[in-house]
Amino acid sequence: MARILQINSSARAGGESSRLADAFVERWLAAHPEDVLVRRDVGREPLPHLDEATLGAFFTPSEGRDADQQARVVLSDRLIEEVRAADILVLGVPMYNFTIPSTLKAWFDHIARAGLTFRYTETGPQGLLLGKRVYVFIARGGVYEGEADTQVPYLRQMLGFLGLTEVSFVLAQGLGMGGGVAEKARQAAFAQTIDLVAGSGG
Ligand SMILES: Cc1cc2nc3c(=O)[nH]c(=O)nc-3n(C[C@H](O)[C@H](O)[C@H](O)COP(=O)(O)O)c2cc1C
Repeated sequence: MARILQINSSARAGGESSRLADAFVERWLAAHPEDVLVRRDVGREPLPHLDEATLGAFFTPSEGRDADQQARVVLSDRLIEEVRAADILVLGVPMYNFTIPSTLKAWFDHIARAGLTFRYTETGPQGLLLGKRVYVFIARGGVYEGEADTQVPYLRQMLGFLGLTEVSFVLAQGLGMGGGVAEKARQAAFAQTIDLVAGSGG
């Protein structure tokens, strides 16, 4: 039995990235019916941005936190517990203004905490979220390759920093383009969700 944590970050109900991530999870659960899904939609129920008081709470050792600081770390602790408990992480990611949505960035800001999800060592930072597989489903209006693509490198870096190095990406690009480009991209991306599940032994 594996635990799946799915994080969708489209602001829209039925966003293309959410539909891709949902299709993957649905197929995964059909192939692995014993697996358990926890789903969070940070696009439609956004997390608060970090502020000075919350950062202060993060950096205060738990025994020294006052009541307000204790309350401020509850959400971050819960999000970290969710990702720690997961064997598989599924991210639905729209492109907003050339990068990931700020709502997904806020999720990373809440789960990246020294001593909990990464630590500093003599040789540099070390991720602590080990042994997990990540599947990322990206939807974009345009087409971005190489250096123009800021999402895939950022996500690889951020996930890798936390120890999440086994990452597969599915990109639906050109969804805002005409001439059949969007439909072709959509179909290719949905076909990849099937291949990924089949490749997992499902
Ligand atoms: C606020 C906003 C910003 C966007 N910025 C970009 C962009 O920079 N580049 C791009 O190719 N598409 C952009 N798009 C188009 C989206 O990437 C596209 O509609 C995609 O399907 C969004 O994912 P979703 O359907 O899961 O919400 C933007 C859309 C919105 C709503």
